[in-house]
Amino acid sequence: MVTDLERQIQRRRTFAIISHPDAGKTTLTEKFLLYGGAIQLAGTVKGKKNTKHAVSDWMEIEKQRGISVTSSVLQFEYRDFCINILDTPGHQDFSEDTYRTLMAADSAVMVIDASKGVEDQTRKLFKVCTLRHIPIFTFINKMDRVAKDPYALLEEIEQELGIDTYAINWPVGSGKEFKGVYERDKQTLIRFEGINGTREALAIETDIQDASIKEALTPEQYQQLMDDVELLDGAGVEFDLERVQQGQLSPVCFGSALTNFGVEPFLNHFLDMTTPPLPRQTDQQTLVPTNHDFSAFVFKIQANMNKAHRDRMAFMRICSGKFEKGMDVFHVQGNKKIKLSQSKQLMADSRETVEEAYAGDIIGVFDPGIFSIGDTICVGKEKICYEGIPTFAPEHFASVRNKDTMKRKQFVKGITQIAQEGAIQIFQSIQGGMEEIIVGVVGVLQFEVLEYRLKNEYSVDIVQTPLSYQYIRWIQNKDIALQQLNLSSDTRKIQDLKGNYLLLFNNEWGVRWATEKNKDLILTEYSK
Ligand code: G4P
Repeated sequence: MVTDLERQIQRRRTFAIISHPDAGKTTLTEKFLLYGGAIQLAGTVKGKKNTKHAVSDWMEIEKQRGISVTSSVLQFEYRDFCINILDTPGHQDFSEDTYRTLMAADSAVMVIDASKGVEDQTRKLFKVCTLRHIPIFTFINKMDRVAKDPYALLEEIEQELGIDTYAINWPVGSGKEFKGVYERDKQTLIRFEGINGTREALAIETDIQDASIKEALTPEQYQQLMDDVELLDGAGVEFDLERVQQGQLSPVCFGSALTNFGVEPFLNHFLDMTTPPLPRQTDQQTLVPTNHDFSAFVFKIQANMNKAHRDRMAFMRICSGKFEKGMDVFHVQGNKKIKLSQSKQLMADSRETVEEAYAGDIIGVFDPGIFSIGDTICVGKEKICYEGIPTFAPEHFASVRNKDTMKRKQFVKGITQIAQEGAIQIFQSIQGGMEEIIVGVVGVLQFEVLEYRLKNEYSVDIVQTPLSYQYIRWIQNKDIALQQLNLSSDTRKIQDLKGNYLLLFNNEWGVRWATEKNKDLILTEYSK
């Protein structure tokens, strides 16, 4: 007999949406929520161009709609599924948190702008998804605008990202000539009838053999569709669910989020092909989600959710069992029993105190400053430890100095604490002190956050000098003779707080020089 725990976990789907800014992530999310009945009012996110993007997109929606959708996670029900969408902040909000969030997801939806193809931020996020081989579903958006050739788009995804694609549906035309999508499994054409002043496109589904199809399309479009169908069936990659679930084959749907065309079929295909939460690796074993003992790991820490207090929230992904409010748990890294109080779950329409949650869900708990990113929380006799969250390579660097030498102590304390929370990474010259600190960030907004927080929370003023480095790599082989490395003259050797050695490069050429001239040197873009 299926227990309630098994049933609850079985119906959970936890995924992140990855995209380059403006590809349509927010619009697509909003349409998903609409199907789940989480928000009554669908529409376009207006006025975004005029507002500063210093807050997450979802907070933008929140402001504009007067409803409370908050960053981190949105949960809603659709069919019999309980869906968790994890926010991957973009724009200036792009930070290491964006990458870490992907560690908590079981799959990803990749939104691509049909006129632009694969863009920079998508490329970066995709790379992180492949670390864990999670399934990736592609939604090629904005077909109501002039788009690139669909074959060229699929080829671009395959070439640039190194993943095979399988077209679930196929577009007929684009922009003004967009006539709909051909659903390959049902052999029907879902016709796009234009928006004609209404906000949502009419979607009429017609069998491909139906005579009306010929009337709806121009003779060229009809011929093209027939040729495409033949080509896709004859020459395309075979559909293989196992490869999808291993992240080797990405199912692709074409549509238009803004006009709400093709969104629901995409959501249904996605739900049918994804799995519930899967077992996760601990230091001792592979732990199944339906294990009765609750366990979770911290993937994000957000400081100052409430400006009046220096409070922090730790967001954790439940990996097994059931969470109950106020339960006693064991914090493995702190080696302490604690009570998980003030737990919050961020629902689509409110931030509610969560009474219970299951494997696959995300909860936010009040953090009195005890948690670090990657920490494990569990109950039961065995103390387990989930694989930690990697530290990802920052992309922007600055040298940071304390203005007032009398405040050295506060400066060191502040910058170290902020680094521990995971907002920034700090490095030192080898054998150097804390007088000059090199700060590395994934998104430039973090520099502003650092300056603001040091001033407001630690009363420390700093001077930041941007550095021209663009690439950083961890040296994996710890025993390598640093002095003997053959490096370009502008490459700098530094170390992190854990004593790992790293190299800073001004350009890709420098990275290539280092790897080509030092055959034994192993460089990585992330550190475990
Ligand atoms: P993001 O979260 O990925 O950054 O993208 P977002 O959804 O905010 O969409 C970016 C812009 O693209 C928005 O326009 C949005 O309306 C538009 N958009 C999204 N999906 C589609 C689509 O299917 N077709 C078309 N034609 N446009 C789409 P904006 O100009 O920034 O805002 P607005 O003034 O249109 O609201």
